[in-house]
Amino acid sequence: MRDFDEADAPALVSWVDGPAALVMWSGPTGFTWPLDREQLARYSAKAGPGLRIWTFTDEENLAEPVAHASLTVDPQGRTARLGRVLVHPGRRGRGIGAALVGAVQRVAFDDMGVHRLGLGVFAHNSTAVALYERLGFVREGVSREVIEVDGAWWSSIEMSMLDREWHGSGATTPSA
Ligand SMILES: CC(C)(COP(=O)(O)OP(=O)(O)OC[C@H]1O[C@@H](n2cnc3c(N)ncnc32)[C@H](O)[C@@H]1OP(=O)(O)O)[C@@H](O)C(=O)NCCC(=O)NCCS
Repeated sequence: MRDFDEADAPALVSWVDGPAALVMWSGPTGFTWPLDREQLARYSAKAGPGLRIWTFTDEENLAEPVAHASLTVDPQGRTARLGRVLVHPGRRGRGIGAALVGAVQRVAFDDMGVHRLGLGVFAHNSTAVALYERLGFVREGVSREVIEVDGAWWSSIEMSMLDREWHGSGATTPSA
């Protein structure tokens, strides 16, 4: 995993094949269809300590982007939000999504020491919801009908993982 580079933009543009796929990837705000290099240049210009933007590359060909993710970090570095998770359409179903999210979890919890890692996912995106649950994220609740796409209202699930869940205790320290 390395920092996103503007040279990765054409790959990203080619992975998002329509307005619904754009919303599924990036949520209700951020980008407009058609995705283009200019929007991605503005997005990547915001990268810094509060917004990490990554390209995940092929293990055997480090020059080839295969996935993308971002992490928004609050100014105190206590909480973070995973976003913009996207795997090359021709590479899905082979564990790249799990490897990508796992790498972001390690950065967030082990390197940055965040307390909470949150994310939002559309409720009907069953592959993504199952992936996050498999990796330890917990469903918190549903924001109902947050955006209308092709005549259907999409609801969003809020999920999170806490540092004690990442570190495996699953329990709070009892008070004295
Ligand atoms: C959601 C997304 C990131 C998942 O990426 P992925 O690389 O396909 O994820 P994985 O391969 O780790 O897991 C996906 C599925 O493949 C299966 N899988 C993983 N490795 C496998 C392997 N070696 N052999 C067979 N199946 C495998 C997993 O069990 C999982 O199955 P499921 O669909 O029944 O849950 C990808 O589909 C994507 O980019 N979607 C569009 C954008 C999007 O929705 N982003 C999420 C926004 S919140």
